Amino acid sequence: MDLRGARILVPGATGEIGGALAVRLHTLGARPALAGRDREALTRVSAACGHAPVCTFDAWDVDSCAKTVDWAVAELGGLDAVVVCVGVAAFGPVGDVEDAVREHLVAVNALAPMAFLRAAADRVPEGGVLAAVTGIVAEAAPARMADYAAAKAALATWLTAVRREQRRKGVSVLEINLPHMDTGFAARAVVGEAPPLPPGLPVTDAVDAIVEALSTGARLVRPGSGATLDVVR
Ligand SMILES: NC(=O)c1ccc[n+]([C@@H]2O[C@H](COP(=O)([O-])OP(=O)(O)OC[C@H]3O[C@@H](n4cnc5c(N)ncnc54)[C@H](OP(=O)(O)O)[C@@H]3O)[C@@H](O)[C@H]2O)c1
Repeated sequence: MDLRGARILVPGATGEIGGALAVRLHTLGARPALAGRDREALTRVSAACGHAPVCTFDAWDVDSCAKTVDWAVAELGGLDAVVVCVGVAAFGPVGDVEDAVREHLVAVNALAPMAFLRAAADRVPEGGVLAAVTGIVAEAAPARMADYAAAKAALATWLTAVRREQRRKGVSVLEINLPHMDTGFAARAVVGEAPPLPPGLPVTDAVDAIVEALSTGARLVRPGSGATLDVVR
């Protein structure tokens, strides 16, 4: 996909990765539409993106995710890509994690990204991209992160199936499978404390890899050997 002029919805644009991605996309000549739950934060990111349009949603409400896609199509006059960057973690042994927290994690990490991409699936034309951030936890399934890891694994499997559906249409489905990144994400967990973590990769590494993946129609961003990210076509 040629990023110049590309109309790209970024749900989770108030986050560290989503915000940095939106700014980079703007710098590269794309037309981002920014979605998040915090209007003030959206206004700040918008100002850094040439006053890109903004829309609020809450990941708990899957209808609001679908409506955000309708909004982006109307606002941008079509949609070439969606990159879902929402997510939240929780830490603790399963016996300590209440069902309400489990529901929260599945809603934010799996159901909301699915709702965005489902709503966009028939709108994005040939050459377009449907993308979402998963995480290495989906495969590694670390102790004390069962619900977060399971929600990301559900999203990863869903993306694989949708990729098969979209192949004939020429739409790329991109899984952005990130290792620990230096964003402070773990400290924003809904419950529990993260285990001691090594230093994360810089946000710019994720943004570089996502931009390359969008440009080349790749299917996967994943941890590479050493402190790098691989982009797999
Ligand atoms: N950082 C890491 O180590 C790491 C590793 C692997 C994967 N990931 C994934 O990378 C993605 C981006 O994470 P990040 O590191 O940039 O963390 P972040 O700064 O905390 O970003 C998370 C984003 O999700 C949004 N969000 C959370 N709950 C929401 C809700 N109920 N409704 C709407 N939006 C909601 C946040 O909105 P607010 O700004 O309103 O809170 C924020 O925009 C996430 O999917 C995360 O799971 C991160």
